[in-house]
Amino acid sequence: MIKRIAFILISLLLVVSGIRQFSFSTATSVGSGAQSPPAPAQSTPTPDTRAEDAQAIAEIKKRLAGHEDEPAETFFKNIEILKGKKASRLPAMMSALTGLLGVGCSYCHVTNEWDREDKPTKQTARKMFRMIGTINKDNFEGKNAVSCWTCHRGNPHPPIQAPATK
Ligand code: HEC
Ligand code: HEC
Repeated sequence: MIKRIAFILISLLLVVSGIRQFSFSTATSVGSGAQSPPAPAQSTPTPDTRAEDAQAIAEIKKRLAGHEDEPAETFFKNIEILKGKKASRLPAMMSALTGLLGVGCSYCHVTNEWDREDKPTKQTARKMFRMIGTINKDNFEGKNAVSCWTCHRGNPHPPIQAPATK
C-alpha cells in the first residue's frame, strides 16, 4: 500500500515536471460525461497487465538506449505534448499515466503499436494536458497547482458528485 502511494506520488512528480514548460493553446471542452452517472473505475489493471505494462516500458527504454537526449518527436512518431522534451521523458510519463488514472497502457493504446492514434482516450489525454496547462496559467500563475491527480486519483472517470450522505 505504502509502496503504491509512493509510486503514484513519484509518478505525479514526473508528469508534472514533464509538462512544466509547455506552451498551451486555448482550453478545449472535455468529457461528454456531464449527464451520465459517475462510473466506477472498472479499468484498474490486474497484476497481469501491470507486469505486461512494466515489460513494455522496459522494452521502450531498451530501444531508447543511446537516444535519451534526442527530442521526443525525433525518436517517437506522434508527439505533441512532449514536443521539445527529451525522449527519455516518455517512458516515465507513460508509467505515471497508468497510476494517475488507474488503467493499463491498453486504455489509450493498441499494445505494441504505440504510435497509433485511433483510441479516443489517447486524444482525450492530450486535451487534458492542455486543459491543466490553461487552468494553471490562468488561475495559479503558472504553478503546477492542478494535475491529473487532482481530479482522477487513480480513476479514469472522476466522480461528478459527492457520495450520498446517509
Ligand atoms: C491515459 C492515456 C495513456 C496511457 C494510459 C498510456 N499512454 Fe502512451 N501515450 C499517450 C499519449 C497522449 C501519447 C502521445 C504523447 C504526445 O503527444 O507527446 C502517448 C505516446 C506513447 C508512445 C510514443 C509512440 C510514438 O512513437 O509516437 C509510447 C511508446 C507509449 N505512449 C507507450 C505507452 C506505454 C508502454 C504505456 C503503459 C505503461 C502507455 N503508453 C500508457 C497516452 C497514454
Ligand atoms: C479538472 C478535473 C480534471 C483534470 C485536472 C484532469 N481530468 Fe481527465 N477527466 C476529467 C473528467 C470529468 C473526465 C470525464 C470522465 C467521464 O467521462 O466519466 C475526464 C476524462 C479523462 C479521460 C477519458 C476517460 C474515458 O474513458 O473516456 C482521460 C484519458 C483523461 N481524463 C486523462 C487525463 C489526464 C492524462 C490528465 C492530466 C494531464 C487529466 N485527465 C486531468 C477531469 C479531469
